[in-house]
Amino acid sequence: MSDTQASQWQPVCSMQTLQASQFVEFSLATVAQGEDTLPLTGFIFLDGATPRAYLNRCPHMGVELNWMPGRFMDSDNLFLQCSTHGALFKPGDGECIAGPCQGDALSALDIRQTEETLEVRLPE
Ligand code: FES
Repeated sequence: MSDTQASQWQPVCSMQTLQASQFVEFSLATVAQGEDTLPLTGFIFLDGATPRAYLNRCPHMGVELNWMPGRFMDSDNLFLQCSTHGALFKPGDGECIAGPCQGDALSALDIRQTEETLEVRLPE
C-alpha cells in the first residue's frame, strides 16, 4: 500500500452515535489489493470505553462475521462471533480463541477521533 493510501482516513460515525453494546457497520472507500477487489466492510464498537474497529471478514473463509445487521457478539456477550462456523474472537485485539481459525485474528483498523467524528483507515 502506498503512503497516500495509508494516510486515507474515512469518517464512519460520530462519537455520540456509538453507544455501549452497539455495532456500527460501514463500507470502506478503499478496495482490497490483488485478487480481492470487492469493497470491504467493517464495524466499530465500544470495548468498555475504547472504540475498536475491524474489517468485517472472518480469517477462516473471508466471509462477513454477522448474519444480522449489528449482531456480532456471542450469546454470552463476551466474544465477537462468526455466524458461519462459530469462531470466537477477543473484542480487544481480534484474536481468534476458538473455532477453525484459532490463533489467527481479525484485521484491526486504526481509529482516530477528529472533534466528534470517529475515523478509520485500512491496515497497511
Ligand atoms: S467462516 Fe468464520 S468460522 Fe468459518
